[in-house]
Amino acid sequence: MGANGLWLWAVAATLLLLGGGGSGGVSGVEAGRVLSIFYFSGRSHFLVIETLLKELAKRGHQVDVVSHFPQKKPLPNYRDFSLAGSYPSMVNHWTFEQLQNFHFLKLMTWMWEENVEICRKVMEHPVMKQLAESREKYDVVLVEILGSDCTYGYAYKVGAPVIGITTLVGLPWGQDRVGNPDNPAYVPGALLPFTSQMSLWERTLNTLGQLYAVWGEKLRGRRLNDLLLREHLGADMPSLSELIERNTSLVMVNSHFSLNGARPAVPGYVEVGGMNVDPNPGPLPEPFRSFLDGAGAAGAVLVSFGSLVPGEKLPPKQLQAFLKVLGALPQRVVWRVNASRVPGGLPRNVIGSTWIPQQALLSHPNMRAFVTHGGLGGTHEAVHWGVPTVTIPFFSDQHQNGFLMQQHGAGRVLQFDDITEDSLRQALHAVLNDPSYRESAKRLSEQFRDRPQEPLETAVWWTEYVMRHRGAPHLRSAAVGLSWVQLWLLDVGAVLAAILAMLATILWATVSTFTNCLFSKAKDRASKTNKAKRK
Ligand SMILES: *[C@@H]1O[C@H](CO)[C@@H](O)[C@H](O)[C@H]1NC(C)=O
Ligand SMILES: *[C@@H]1O[C@H](CO)[C@@H](O)[C@H](O)[C@H]1NC(C)=O
Repeated sequence: MGANGLWLWAVAATLLLLGGGGSGGVSGVEAGRVLSIFYFSGRSHFLVIETLLKELAKRGHQVDVVSHFPQKKPLPNYRDFSLAGSYPSMVNHWTFEQLQNFHFLKLMTWMWEENVEICRKVMEHPVMKQLAESREKYDVVLVEILGSDCTYGYAYKVGAPVIGITTLVGLPWGQDRVGNPDNPAYVPGALLPFTSQMSLWERTLNTLGQLYAVWGEKLRGRRLNDLLLREHLGADMPSLSELIERNTSLVMVNSHFSLNGARPAVPGYVEVGGMNVDPNPGPLPEPFRSFLDGAGAAGAVLVSFGSLVPGEKLPPKQLQAFLKVLGALPQRVVWRVNASRVPGGLPRNVIGSTWIPQQALLSHPNMRAFVTHGGLGGTHEAVHWGVPTVTIPFFSDQHQNGFLMQQHGAGRVLQFDDITEDSLRQALHAVLNDPSYRESAKRLSEQFRDRPQEPLETAVWWTEYVMRHRGAPHLRSAAVGLSWVQLWLLDVGAVLAAILAMLATILWATVSTFTNCLFSKAKDRASKTNKAKRK
């Protein structure tokens, strides 16, 4: 090989090195090692996080994923540790009546008790046993903040800082681990049916609900988790509260101020709402494309209650109302329903499908309205694409999501028990024919999308930030180290009360000495004059 050949090799090698450096990420983080552990078997939750994990892998980080949802095709840099089969999927797990009666208190008990049981099943899985003994080094551990924090035990075992992600909006017990203020006067509890505009009665309920959630999690949930962690990971495990307080660097939440209302947040509390919205959902597959393209000026309506409640699961009365009202619309309708299980079949303007390309459907210019159960993913997609909603909420955060759309004038809420032919027709007609809903949805969409950075980019940036700094406790406020007595200023109140009491005592003593003095002088004088008079 001549001098020329060598020179060419040198250029090629430099280019390769540069190329390799480029894939390390915009922010210049070298390839990091990410461990993510998701005990919960809800698919819609995992979908939110999967977006981030795939993006991290794409940027050259080594991503190890413990979850119930392994990739169908292997991805570069993405290694699955599958828990599939260790706990039944949440789809078809609940009956319709159970969903209906899943009110706040039941939901909390489910969070603290049932989630520990899911953890127990998961922790018995060989993958988790292996992980507990693993000697692999990680730069950061990503976990979901939901009902149980059992995953923190494994973060402790591998000795890495933790990023918590809530696939819902910020949960009450996801705040104090980064020292975030969570004032129930104007911040609605994540799982309560309120928005930032609350009446006195609603604020009372919101405050009680938040207190119940925060203290229930501390006193019930964490205790059960402590027992479980010590049973599986060793009797010398520190308490969960200690792990959470020592090692949480960041909390990412699936909200955005444009939709949820502005709230105070420390730097370690980052909003990434909309992260799972795909801005380029691609062309619509057939038969949906021809169906929507041909919908004409009247447009189309999408009806979907997510994977938990497919249309055919509706009780007969509500199902009949839907068939009548949808069938009489001038719009074309796409419905997530198994048509062969609808007695009498579907009306002629409706196509039913058990699978729907929801994002591509919502992004279609002919889409006029979305009838939804108000899941967070679907709500964000509707907001992103500016489609007004009729929300029929079942449980969890769905009520709040519906009320938020209603508060912004971009949707209507219809309670399930109130569904009749009339109420459903009215709600749909309002959203379809009153232009204010469409205008508000468009305005909300613009505010939701106008950001310095795409939400996924934000999530990646902060994950890399925590890796770069090997944990970032400086993103949290000093509230993390305070007890609730200090945080609620009860100690300061006590000091102030003591000072006030002291001042009052001094004042009282001075005044009484002074008046005594005056009084006795006056008495003296009086007795002298009396004596003089007698003489
Ligand atoms: C917390 O994270 C640091 C790395 O930032 C690690 O050295 C330490 O062991 C972790 N401690 C706990 C209790 O997880
Ligand atoms: C739809 O329902 C029919 C009849 O019960 C059933 O055979 C079919 O498997 C269902 N399709 C799907 C995709 O669930």
